[in-house]
Amino acid sequence: MKKRIIILLAVFILAGMSLNVAAKDVKIGFLVKQPEEAWFQDEWKFAEAAANDYDFELVKIGATDGEKVLSAIDNLASQGAQGFIICTPDVKLGPAIAAKANMNKLKFMSVDDRFVGSNGKVMEEVHHMGISAYNIGKLVGKTLVEQMDNRNWDYNDVGYLVMTYDQLPTISERTQGATDVLLENAFPEANIFDSPMKTLDTEGSFNAANFALTKHSNINKWIVAGGNDSSVIGAIRALEGQGFGANDVIGIGINGSNFVINEFEKDEPTGFYASVKLSARQHGYETAELMYKWINEDKEPPKVTWTSGTIMTRDNYQELN
Ligand code: GLA
Repeated sequence: MKKRIIILLAVFILAGMSLNVAAKDVKIGFLVKQPEEAWFQDEWKFAEAAANDYDFELVKIGATDGEKVLSAIDNLASQGAQGFIICTPDVKLGPAIAAKANMNKLKFMSVDDRFVGSNGKVMEEVHHMGISAYNIGKLVGKTLVEQMDNRNWDYNDVGYLVMTYDQLPTISERTQGATDVLLENAFPEANIFDSPMKTLDTEGSFNAANFALTKHSNINKWIVAGGNDSSVIGAIRALEGQGFGANDVIGIGINGSNFVINEFEKDEPTGFYASVKLSARQHGYETAELMYKWINEDKEPPKVTWTSGTIMTRDNYQELN
């Protein structure tokens, strides 16, 4: 009899435990720095798909500055969330975000932009998924070289607009990768024009490019690289404003979201030749899945995951989407 009671009790306790972590009880935040950017909308879309598959609740938050991030973390905790994924508006917020999350006993991992500690080094203790930024930049550089060669352009006649945003390491590694490949291929250093962007968006790119173009009005063939698609599209629009189109411009972006598919679907090609298509699915779905399993099964995610990308042009964008 006693034995039966003990077994029954054990069954109840175990059932109770599994109910405690039953599907909808899991709530996960997904905070992004630029909710208006197509890349982040895609990440959210794929994270939603994970939430449907695993039956947890996803809380999407546009956290565009430090104050919003910190209050969002408090809110998540008071709503009963157990964890969150974040692309921070400023990598230097890393220590403050980690402290706030730990105080609220929330699990967290970063996506896209990796936290930087107060010593200026990446916070390797924080789980992260990001792109292999330098290699993807090199792919941009290699494709620029191939395309100049296909068009038989003399490198001496070509100006190279590098749309830089060096305050964000994942972005500066991308532009550096592209520039290194050009230099390795004997592209003249004197024709490289770093164009620092004040904001990492189309407007920031447009303004920086216009500034560079007025200084170098003698040049009439251009190649453009930047850390993401917005960084290149703005420059393409600035070049169009000066009368340069697909015949005189080769621009290559990074992300490959719908935003650039519009560009490929225009009747006439533009100077925006290609984009490196990244895996928004991996960044959105997999981070959410990893967080869910961490919460629900106590399965710790890998410390770091680096993702890759593929060149997408007018010719293959339909196959890649
Ligand atoms: C950064 C950029 C985004 C996107 C991601 C990819 O966050 O701002 O546009 O390229 O990296 O990881």
